[in-house]
Amino acid sequence: MLKIIQHYFSKMQIEDIDEIVAIEKIAYKFPWTSHNFISSIEAGHSCICLRDWNEGLLGYFLMMSVVDEAHLLNMCINPSYQGCGFGSIMLNEIIRLVNEDGMKGVLLEVRPSNIRAFHIYKRFGFIEIGRRKNYYSSDNSREDAIVMRFAWEGCCALA
Ligand SMILES: CC(C)(COP(=O)(O)OP(=O)(O)OC[C@H]1O[C@@H](n2cnc3c(N)ncnc32)[C@H](O)[C@@H]1OP(=O)(O)O)[C@@H](O)C(=O)NCCC(=O)NCCS
Repeated sequence: MLKIIQHYFSKMQIEDIDEIVAIEKIAYKFPWTSHNFISSIEAGHSCICLRDWNEGLLGYFLMMSVVDEAHLLNMCINPSYQGCGFGSIMLNEIIRLVNEDGMKGVLLEVRPSNIRAFHIYKRFGFIEIGRRKNYYSSDNSREDAIVMRFAWEGCCALA
């Protein structure tokens, strides 16, 4: 049967966290805990869910503003819905929000091994601006982070 997806964005609530953590655990090898999500909500970061009227929670993102720069802390699509364009829909919303808030750009970290995420960020115009050594936990020890930045003015070096 053809499923019609009718998605919308909503502000993340404490009541959403159990459902979010369940997705987090299947989407990541090193997932955030419920405490990480609660802290972000309490800190007043932009914590947004992507939902569908019938299917439920499709994904979520969390973003922190530091002066005039946004920092994307987490962005995740429920693995059952990955590869359907929702990551792209979410990135469009992220860029729209950052623009609406008058931010100069968006920073994020991504694992070099996360080819799909790196690819989608590049497609949206994020540019690699550096590396953070041993930033992530990994199976063997630590993994570096690629630091990427999106900016409107075409200048990708940090001011
Ligand atoms: C990264 C992520 C957000 C992308 O979301 P998504 O809904 O899968 O993204 P989209 O469907 O919009 O497609 C993204 C690209 O991946 C490609 N893709 C889809 N399925 C794929 C697969 N099984 N393997 C490789 N690439 C795939 C799509 O073709 C698309 O490529 P394009 O940009 O050339 O069109 C999602 O995979 C995810 O949540 N991953 C786990 C959490 C994560 O790693 N978050 C990022 C942390 S930095």
